[in-house]
Amino acid sequence: MKWVVLVGSVRKASLNGALARALDALAPEGVSVEILPSVAQMPIYDGDIETAGFPGQVSSVGEQVKAADALVIVTAEYNYSIPGGLKNALDWLSRLKDRPLKGKPTLIMSASPSTMGGARAQYHLRQVLVAVDAHVMNVPEVMVAQAHAKVADGALADPATRDFVAGQLAAFHAFVRKVKAGEAAEG
Ligand code: FNR
Repeated sequence: MKWVVLVGSVRKASLNGALARALDALAPEGVSVEILPSVAQMPIYDGDIETAGFPGQVSSVGEQVKAADALVIVTAEYNYSIPGGLKNALDWLSRLKDRPLKGKPTLIMSASPSTMGGARAQYHLRQVLVAVDAHVMNVPEVMVAQAHAKVADGALADPATRDFVAGQLAAFHAFVRKVKAGEAAEG
């Protein structure tokens, strides 16, 4: 099984980037987790650009999401919501004709130095994912609070957090298999 990851922060020392990079090692056996290109590579959504032709980065990320068994979104929280770059990427992907997000098994996680761990951004993100008809796992949720104390040298270092995240990934693995089995039964 292959999962792809969209990261809602674009800075090099991103705590969410560290969380995203930890996922491949924490995922269940038989699952590979690959980080998608930075959302910073997509221009700001513009209907005129769309009319002239989708930017290559948008089409390419769309194809990678479409081909993957599942999508993981790891996001920062900006002003109680998701970063503009992530919203922009989701807006672009929502415009692609083959609708890569529709029905896609999707997992949300967030990291923040605050004690809330990005919880408020997660609920805004869930609302956006309703619009694109993604198939989002409800629980268990992962909000990595006080994430600055759990990341060292660009890696998710805290053993309890790694265990907690691994537990969520195991639950998501079961969720993805269930969604795919349902699709197969429907033909
Ligand atoms: C933040 N930060 C933040 N944190 C939070 O928990 N709730 C919030 O509403 C906000 N708002 C906010 C707005 C803006 C514009 C910035 C730049 C930052 C702090 C944020 O969580 C922190 O900078 C994280 O380290 C960002 O994630 P990355 O880049 O480390 O992944």
